[in-house]
Amino acid sequence: MNGLARIERRAGLRAAWTGLALLALAVPAVAAAVAESAPTPARQTELIYLLKQDCGSCHGLTLKGGLAPPLLPATIAERDDETLIETILDGRPGTPMPPWRFQIAPQEAAWLVQQLRQGVHAE
Ligand code: HEC
Repeated sequence: MNGLARIERRAGLRAAWTGLALLALAVPAVAAAVAESAPTPARQTELIYLLKQDCGSCHGLTLKGGLAPPLLPATIAERDDETLIETILDGRPGTPMPPWRFQIAPQEAAWLVQQLRQGVHAE
């Protein structure tokens, strides 16, 4: 191998290592962005409490319905996420469903909808 080929080969290897190093930096950044969208564990506990106490006062403590319709996986299955998130944030004008925008952030409403879809454990 002549000198020039060796230098080129080394440059190629260096580029590959740089690429790998950048990838290693990017992966945790992506993981952090995903984690950021979920509420912290403490906030999750608060949100579940709110769901049972506040939402439960109308939707039933076990969300099986009461003054308001049930919020069970089967009963919300036909609705898309956007509709449910909007309902939580803005309420349903003309019905008793109040807006929660001041207590619940949009990404928290999205997380709550996920929990409702999975079925929040009734106690
Ligand atoms: C004062 C009573 C009341 C409270 C408190 C309340 N809701 Fe509601 N909610 C309603 C009523 C009534 C409806 C049905 C509105 C309609 O007729 O479209 C509803 C509808 C909904 C829907 C749409 C269900 C569907 O099938 O389309 C969701 C989701 C929802 N509420 C979530 C919540 C959450 C989450 C909370 C607590 C943060 C909450 N609600 C608190 C009365 C309430």
